Amino acid sequence: MVPAPKYNAVMLEAELKLCIKDRELSLVVGDITKIPADAIGNAANSRLAGGGGVDGAIHRAGGPAIMQELDQIRARIGQCPAGDAVATHAGRLPAQWVIHAVGPVYGDGRSGEPLALRSCYERCVELSDELGARTLTLPAISTGVYGYPMDLAAKVAVSAVATKLSGDETRVERVTFVLFDDIAFRRFADATLDMMPTLAS
Ligand code: APR
Repeated sequence: MVPAPKYNAVMLEAELKLCIKDRELSLVVGDITKIPADAIGNAANSRLAGGGGVDGAIHRAGGPAIMQELDQIRARIGQCPAGDAVATHAGRLPAQWVIHAVGPVYGDGRSGEPLALRSCYERCVELSDELGARTLTLPAISTGVYGYPMDLAAKVAVSAVATKLSGDETRVERVTFVLFDDIAFRRFADATLDMMPTLAS
């Protein structure tokens, strides 16, 4: 009898789903503030002060309660370093939690950026587990204002999340990368398809 394949990927029009064990890693194009999930990842800054891009969109859609909670966290811990994350409630967003991850500012690519970016995604999954979140949406952290090249960021992001979903520690069932445009989707799809043989071995 031919054994069932360990992994399979299905590409729909602008959606890609990869099954990892009984979990799912998905890519979609869209606005992360519109897609329901238990936890939504944010691309924050280390001052947790809000900004433009996806951070601005999350605060606008979620309302002032998110910043009020961040004010309390800031008073307690000061800054959140690149590679780490903090969680707040999600206000009016279609979620229970926002996980504010601080990505690295991209310099020459040899100053710890890949490790810090990887750590952001790992922390998002770890905090989801601490909060009891089973579904998590994530943006392409650091690929906007922080200048991380999309193709390189996609490889790090997909590898970090797929490794977490392959492990035994997490109870997260589905992680969805919500990419803002077709080019970002394409880069993440390429990274996902490139990684599949590694996952299967
Ligand atoms: N949904 C999904 N993705 C989005 C959305 C959205 N609503 N808005 C923007 N994006 C995408 C961008 O196209 C980019 O690919 O999110 C990615 C990350 O871009 P930024 O938001 O600029 O985040 P980053 O590069 O990590 O820079 C963080 O920007 O806004 C400030 O406070 C933030 O200082 C921090 C810095």
